[in-house]
Amino acid sequence: MDTGNSARGSFGSQLGVILASAGSAVGLGNIWRFPTEVGRGGGAAFILIYLGFILLLAMPVMLCEFIIGRSARSNAIGAFQKLAPGKPWIAAGIMGVLGGFLVLSFYSVVAGWTLHYTIQSALGQLQGQCSMFNGQSSMDFGAAFNVFVSDPWQPIIYLAVFLLLTHLVVARGIQHGIERYSKLMMPLLLVIILLLVCFSLTMPGAAEGVRFLLQPDLSEVTPDVVLGAMGQAFFSLSVGLGCLVTYSSYFSKETRLVNSAMNVCIIDTMVAVLSGFIIFPTVFSVGIAPDAGPGLVFITLPNVFNLMFGEMPVVGYVFALLFYVLLLLAALTSSISMHEICTAFISEHFQTGRRRAATIVTLICLLLGAFCSLSFGPWQEVTVFGKGFFDLFDFTVTKFLMPLGGLLMTLFVGWYLDRRLVEQQLTNDEALSVRTMRPLLVLIRWVAPIGILVIFLNELFPLFI
Ligand code: PHE
Repeated sequence: MDTGNSARGSFGSQLGVILASAGSAVGLGNIWRFPTEVGRGGGAAFILIYLGFILLLAMPVMLCEFIIGRSARSNAIGAFQKLAPGKPWIAAGIMGVLGGFLVLSFYSVVAGWTLHYTIQSALGQLQGQCSMFNGQSSMDFGAAFNVFVSDPWQPIIYLAVFLLLTHLVVARGIQHGIERYSKLMMPLLLVIILLLVCFSLTMPGAAEGVRFLLQPDLSEVTPDVVLGAMGQAFFSLSVGLGCLVTYSSYFSKETRLVNSAMNVCIIDTMVAVLSGFIIFPTVFSVGIAPDAGPGLVFITLPNVFNLMFGEMPVVGYVFALLFYVLLLLAALTSSISMHEICTAFISEHFQTGRRRAATIVTLICLLLGAFCSLSFGPWQEVTVFGKGFFDLFDFTVTKFLMPLGGLLMTLFVGWYLDRRLVEQQLTNDEALSVRTMRPLLVLIRWVAPIGILVIFLNELFPLFI
């Protein structure tokens, strides 16, 4: 069932497939969220567990998304309508598109902050800000950060600019937009990462940070850390929302699904671990605690850059600027894929042009994103189920829609879809060996759904484990 549909876009090359999918995966999740979780979860022990979950849970879900998307060649909701007409499986697609709107809205708020920090570091104002405060303690950057995020207008303007950038890429279509910009941005991103790792490893005292990353301290591993690692693996690989169902609907018949999934997992994990190698050696080098939480990138690191700047102004300036450019590029390649989940659905379901569909998505996310942004400032008191909009959206997507979507997709592919269709997709019509695919089927049918069910139940009923 490989109904090529010439009216739909498609990726032009295997490299494009891998870079676009890896672009979706590599994002704030790798460079901002991963080091935060590593810092809290005791370093190397967390990384080991995380690697296990990537391989056993998130990678199988990615394969399921690829199988669904390429065999149906439709958007996240349309795919389930085609493969299981009239069946409740469509719920997985609906949750995915809904999740796409929510995730793009809150993600773009943080991406907007990143844009602000990029501009500030380019203008040399990160350092300026600190000399204004003159104290150089983390409090100063903390205060500056809080003043910025609680402003009613500024973060919304940055949010709008970031959404516009995302919009411009998505509106240009698959090959001329998503593929072209991924091919441009991903190599640049990898070069910046390597440069920053080299910088950071040569800082005095960097070895302490490297040790933190490489020596597992199992005493730090609590059930919470284990569950955090599972959630992080999902978020980081962008699985569970149908984002990769949408992307893989543009794959060609020749694209090797297993090979592509492996490559994306390797690139994503490499970037996450390398981000750790950028952040922790520098943080340890200037003697700041590694477990600062979400403020790590916007409060701790400006402090680090500032101290560097005091000693070696050029190095401090370049390092800070490169770091925020890296974060911005990573956020952009991910937000494009979130936008595409919704744009593909609207344009196909309502049979409207891509540009118009993209505009609708951008406007809706601007509105929802503004709600999220205001929840750090004037709307701090406005809560739904006890949470501000930002936290509510974040919670709904990462703790609810992603695991449930992933669970449904593994069950759908492992137990509902015709076994021959699944094998055909995995092996490209037997061009690849069936025997090597068998262990993957075990992961899809058993290991992944059971593992995900455990996270999911724990999220709903925290006392479960
Ligand atoms: N994987 C992205 C990141 O690591 C986030 C993402 C989630 C992207 C869901 C698309 C869909 O930042």
